[in-house]
Amino acid sequence: MAEYDVIIIGAGPGGYVCAIRCAQLGLKTACVEGRETLGGTCLNVGCIPSKAMLHASELYHESVTHFEEMGLKVSAPKIDLPQMLKYKQSSVDSNTKGVEFLFKKNKVDWLKGYGKITAKGEVTVDGTAHKAKNIVIATGSEPASIPGVEIDEKIVVSSTGALELSKVPKKLAVIGAGVIGLELGSVYARLGSEVTVVEFLDHITPGMDAEISKAFQKMLTKQGLKFVLNTAVQSVSTTKTKATVTYKSRKDEAEGSLDADIVLVATGRKPYTSGLGLEEVGVKVSDRGMVEIDSHWKTNVDGIYAIGDVVKGPMLAHKAEDEGMAVAETLAGQAGHVNYDVIPGVIYTAPEVANVGKTEEQLKADGKKYKVGKFPFMGNARAKSHFMGDGFVKILADAETDRILGCHVIGPSAGELIHEICVAMEFGAAAEDVARTCHAHPTFSEAMREAALACGDGAIHA
Ligand code: FAD
Ligand code: NAI
Repeated sequence: MAEYDVIIIGAGPGGYVCAIRCAQLGLKTACVEGRETLGGTCLNVGCIPSKAMLHASELYHESVTHFEEMGLKVSAPKIDLPQMLKYKQSSVDSNTKGVEFLFKKNKVDWLKGYGKITAKGEVTVDGTAHKAKNIVIATGSEPASIPGVEIDEKIVVSSTGALELSKVPKKLAVIGAGVIGLELGSVYARLGSEVTVVEFLDHITPGMDAEISKAFQKMLTKQGLKFVLNTAVQSVSTTKTKATVTYKSRKDEAEGSLDADIVLVATGRKPYTSGLGLEEVGVKVSDRGMVEIDSHWKTNVDGIYAIGDVVKGPMLAHKAEDEGMAVAETLAGQAGHVNYDVIPGVIYTAPEVANVGKTEEQLKADGKKYKVGKFPFMGNARAKSHFMGDGFVKILADAETDRILGCHVIGPSAGELIHEICVAMEFGAAAEDVARTCHAHPTFSEAMREAALACGDGAIHA
């Protein structure tokens, strides 16, 4: 039996990044993973396959909407869903194999199977006990349903089933207008489904800056998605081939229903800790099932740490990765740190939506004096010529010091553009710092500079 400095349980973006960094810092490291492939939810059934489907369906949509106008004559493009799924799987495979290669390169041992913490400093995998000075729990999350709705992954599907449908449903009902509902709802709307999204709240994308959320809903509606807001789903009943979603308005209690070929349940995810042995070793979890940690990711039990979706904070791959690196550095005697104020969020629809820092609503609630610099993509030459003039950039800066407090973008490549502001915020930059930085022309990035200019004496092209 090998003795390790660290055993990490779970090889998602939190666990595998932690394992690689631990090994790079000279710690003898093993990572336990029960799936057949490494990479966790993100690489296998999350970020990567969903982005592959978004990419393919976006190109299809582009070909039927704008090709003729640009002088591109092709015979009517057809959807070959089995081939699209093969393409999706090939992106998954190349990424999961990539992690396996990185494990070998960095001499991380992959302990195959589901692990259980059987004592302090001991993880048992498939009947074999392995010793470690430290254990990191990185077991991630799983889809959470709602009362009255049972996921069968055939007619009533989670995101995992929605990424494997054998045909494009004629009618798709989506429960929840959060990130998964809107990304996968967009995929099937582009491929021809009639998509209706039922949302509990009176707005989509909870937590997003309200102005962006409203603009986003308008754009998605224009793309054909229908929204039933302020409405709680009560139940879903199914026959062999169809489903009926029953719901109640939260405003006037009026009941309604919706028929669908497929129902996507996208009402959030919950931490995955089953079979881990937390109770036996006395690791505390919150009422919501999250592993409780201190500011250095340590649980209440010495030598046991936790990171990623299984702990508090946004359930995002890059947040899990950052925590993985920080824990590795902590265990190697360095000062691991995550700046939770600068974690970007991106929705990979068309247009993309991205944000970092505070929303206007949060600043108001905090009683902070702020100014707003806005710039529409209609004033950006590159965006206009690419039919991407819808959307805008909004920078929020401190009214007195001009320091950037938040940024919200809806428009082309928003998920790439946001990082300019992340770097600026990490350096405590003012909007003027971004405004005085030369930006190449013609790029979408110029819209970021223009919004920063709008925090001062004004944008040029608005
Ligand atoms: P996970 O990725 O969930 O990995 C945990 C791993 O631990 C799993 O492989 C599991 O098999 C393993 N495991 C669990 N228990 C045990 C055990 N006892 N023994 C051994 N192994 C175990 N986030 C983004 O930032 N960007 C996106 O675009 C994005 N898109 C998404 C799309 C979808 C459809 C979904 C569902 C999620 C998406 N996410 C996205 C969220 C992202 O996938 C998660 O935040 C991220 O995967 C969390 O990483 P993690 O390492 O904490 O856990
Ligand atoms: P979510 O939390 O983003 O959205 C769930 C939505 O369901 C909310 O709007 C909520 O109000 C609604 N809802 C809850 N109960 C309901 C009911 N009874 N009836 C109607 N609506 C109801 O969760 P989602 O979309 O499932 O995503 C899970 C996690 O995965 C998120 O935390 C997200 O961070 C992550 N993810 C990230 C992506 C990205 O970064 N691009 C992509 C996909 C997922």
